[in-house]
Amino acid sequence: MKRETVIVIDFGGQYNQLVARRVRECNVYCEIYSYKTDIEKIKEMNPKGIILTGGPNSCYEPDSPTYTKELFELGIPVLGLCYGAQLMMHLLGGKVERADVREYGKTEVFVNTESPLFTGVEETTTCWMSHFDYISKVAPGFDICAHTKDCPVAAAENREKKLYAIQFHPEVLHTVRGKEILSNYVYNVCQCAGDWKMDSFVKSSIEAIREKVGDGKVLCALSGGVDSSVAAVLLSKAIGKQLTCVFVDHGLLRKNEGDEVEAVFGPEGPYDLNFIRVNAQERYYSKLAGVEEPEQKRKIIGEEFIRVFEEEAKKIGAVDYLVQGTIYPDVVESGLGGESAVIKSHHNVGGLPDCVDFKEIIEPLRDLFKDEVRKAGLELGIPEYLVFRQPFPGPGLGIRIIGEVTADKVRIVQDADAIYREEIAKAELDQDINQYFAALTNMRSVGVMGDERTYDYAVVLRAVKTIDFMTAEAADIPFDVLQKVMSRIINEVKGVNRVFYDLTSKPPGTIEME
Ligand code: XMP
Repeated sequence: MKRETVIVIDFGGQYNQLVARRVRECNVYCEIYSYKTDIEKIKEMNPKGIILTGGPNSCYEPDSPTYTKELFELGIPVLGLCYGAQLMMHLLGGKVERADVREYGKTEVFVNTESPLFTGVEETTTCWMSHFDYISKVAPGFDICAHTKDCPVAAAENREKKLYAIQFHPEVLHTVRGKEILSNYVYNVCQCAGDWKMDSFVKSSIEAIREKVGDGKVLCALSGGVDSSVAAVLLSKAIGKQLTCVFVDHGLLRKNEGDEVEAVFGPEGPYDLNFIRVNAQERYYSKLAGVEEPEQKRKIIGEEFIRVFEEEAKKIGAVDYLVQGTIYPDVVESGLGGESAVIKSHHNVGGLPDCVDFKEIIEPLRDLFKDEVRKAGLELGIPEYLVFRQPFPGPGLGIRIIGEVTADKVRIVQDADAIYREEIAKAELDQDINQYFAALTNMRSVGVMGDERTYDYAVVLRAVKTIDFMTAEAADIPFDVLQKVMSRIINEVKGVNRVFYDLTSKPPGTIEME
């Protein structure tokens, strides 16, 4: 491996991707592997450092995840976090026991500032603890370098062998000096140079793509979302007109989105590529007519996408490569990287490879986390409104219109959503909310407007705060902002006479309506 790398060995804890992201924020490339990964593979990768993550088990139980002791004899620095710290002590001859009380939450920790891990950290600082088991005795050769009121070993070190164990979670933002601690590990202990930067990623990717593609033809399904946009620009910078992007406007995009995508990627835009926009709105509306069941709608939208794409691909003829916007969390969550369960199968380009005649798939963003994709996008000069676009589901407004989809309902939800987004931006709330949008219920109710009776639809406003989109809370939007949005929607969008705000968290709700 030519790139300087720190490896995270995953023992199934909830913060594992976060550990890797934090290391990368220190400009050091980091990959996640399951604890089942053979040590020979780890040796081949020749990492600068290894981090063992937390996990839900007790290391002294017979069937708990473990690792060969040889790991600590490779001369490569190892940092154990939480379960990883306990496992290191357990395997090297220390003692781990069940504590009388669980230590959980923000905790005051006293650190030895002479430890290379704690350089620049105050003697007393705040850390995030979450554990039942504790290290009651450190392994031979280790010194305690941090403790809390209830935890005699909050961190231990064997400086000579470059082995470090931390009971708390430096990767979590509640650990006030967490970032410095991880940075100390990668720089002071592992002696990394810090060469993982998006400008060099962009440069080396462009070179690698050129070398791989040669004078071949490349096809990309462009959705206008962040991942496919960044992938497309990267490819276009590398191979220009050898790239063809097909953008299917299924009529279920947000207001003006189709034109916005065309303005950036089309012939008037700054990039030198072949851009094909397929206006398939009518085709989708007629397929969706009369269909109410959510899964059936999703299926129709997905299948129709494949059909449209197939037709375009046939016109283009055989291509050498097909681009996919896979990103690193997709790789980890599909069970290829870490230990986390398969959470979702990936749907954006579901089924595409089968319908196109091509030799190989190119996944230029496969190593990147979402925030890195955004940084690469900015590096490539993609407009900020595209780079910081909110997540938008593949089936689009099709799953934000409850029940049957019609062109008129699409107009309602597009207009209401545009007003909502405008007001959220005006109130400067968009940085605090992770996803927000308007949706359309299939409920109609009686109202009065002027002196007239109305019988119109109800719009629902959704706004959530979330870290991983697997769980979410409704955002606390000031009432006056909600009132303003309600009043504008009712006055400006024909066909709406009520506006609701959705307070449901996930679970039990989902973020989208269907
Ligand atoms: P849910 O509704 O499952 O949404 O709580 C979680 C996140 O995933 C997005 N989402 C999708 N994204 N294709 C996508 O690309 C889909 O079919 C899809 N369904 C939901 C949703 O917008 C939210 O960010």
